[in-house]
Amino acid sequence: MPEKDYIKEVRALLEKRPGEHRAFVHTYGCQQNFSDGEKLEGLLEQMGYTIADTDENAEFVIFNTCAIRENAEKRVFGNVGILKKAHSENPDMIIAVCGCMVQQEHIAEKFRQSYPFVDIVFGTHAATRLPELVYKHMTVKKRLFDIGEGEGCMAEHLPVHRDNPLKANLPIMHGCDNFCTYCVVPLVRGREKSRLPENIIAEAKEIVAAGYKEITLLGQNVNSYGKGLETPISFAQLLREVNAIPGDFRIKFMTSHPKDCTRELLEAIRDCEKVCHYIHLPVQSGSDDVLRRMNRRYTAEHYLDLLKMAREIVPDITVTSDIIVGFPGETEEDFKATVELSKKARWLMTYSFIYSKREGTKAALMEDQIPPEVSSRRFQELLELQTKISHEINESYVGKTTTVLFDDECDAGEGYISGRSFENLVVRVPRESAPKGFAKVYLKESLGWALDGEIIKTEE
Ligand code: 5AD
Ligand code: SF4
Repeated sequence: MPEKDYIKEVRALLEKRPGEHRAFVHTYGCQQNFSDGEKLEGLLEQMGYTIADTDENAEFVIFNTCAIRENAEKRVFGNVGILKKAHSENPDMIIAVCGCMVQQEHIAEKFRQSYPFVDIVFGTHAATRLPELVYKHMTVKKRLFDIGEGEGCMAEHLPVHRDNPLKANLPIMHGCDNFCTYCVVPLVRGREKSRLPENIIAEAKEIVAAGYKEITLLGQNVNSYGKGLETPISFAQLLREVNAIPGDFRIKFMTSHPKDCTRELLEAIRDCEKVCHYIHLPVQSGSDDVLRRMNRRYTAEHYLDLLKMAREIVPDITVTSDIIVGFPGETEEDFKATVELSKKARWLMTYSFIYSKREGTKAALMEDQIPPEVSSRRFQELLELQTKISHEINESYVGKTTTVLFDDECDAGEGYISGRSFENLVVRVPRESAPKGFAKVYLKESLGWALDGEIIKTEE
């Protein structure tokens, strides 16, 4: 059944009701999930809903969930629970839950049993069936569960409602084949699949023509882009093709897996003037034993060699990382190895996480899970070290100039606004001096977490 019919049907039903029909998509987790959320918003708009940025007076609320850590899941249950009252007071209100969490059977079951006011539950592969689910719910008033197979947000030509006026997400692949032993992503998102380069380029051209100034190419592991496509193409080649699109915009990408990060990719970053000098290269741990048990397929030494090569090829490149502390069996020695690696790697910043046990993963079955107080102490120690390193790096940029993209979205408090530089530095300037778009900025002073800047010249 072509879904367009359902879009029209829902639209017709909504038109019979007076007033505006507000919909809010509450997205949790990673950029990939945000990108899916923007597609759900695109579909909702076509159905006749107005996209709101809070759930206040919303007639339709979708929780687009993340399963990566237990905390994210707890927040979803809490936030869904808060809407119970609003739902009971408005017979037209629909609450839906979708995304990675509900892809896990025990979670879908919990919504079925304990959250009777949740009307629709749909999995990551069922997103294109949203209009059909909404129509059926509106007409039959039944609860619907659809965790079945399908293309989901991987489907080409879905409408997109982009949340940021200047920055656009562009997924280039879906799923993950790496099976890091702690990670639930391959279990809930399925196998890695690359989009066709021609579709990506066409979408990138549309994004540029619409006036966006930044494109972020997204995938769980963009470095392995192209695997399985009929005409082989590497991620580095794709970067060069996106870079060749005429226009005033810049390109970012995430996430990169160190095992697939190549000289070819680093040379493409060097050669492509629109590609930001920044790479997110999650290391996860500095201990070779932990890395082996995480199934990461590289050593700390290999990682440091990669950083050395990256800095030789692109001297001003900045690097950020993800780190997990408290992985099962992580000894004090293992943790010290992570501390030592942090000192050597000198990341601009890190996203550190306390290991969270995920049902269905190999690590969940490992013995010697680390007590929370030990993990918290390690987390804190690492945070303090990284804060010091980040401050030193920011300090080293004082007196330099760079290009920053300001989008009016990042309020930096007290009349300031912040943007990201070409090297991913956070740069703060007085709000009234900032343009919407690119600006050349003189970096006056380090604030530790960011740099205080002064606009030199605005590029329109
Ligand atoms: N526990 C803690 N952190 C995790 N990550 C992935 N799975 C887990 C888990 N089970 C982190 C990794 C990954 C980032 C997106 O989330 O560091 O790079
Ligand atoms: Fe998870 Fe590893 Fe895939 Fe990243 S690369 S999504 S951490 S399995």
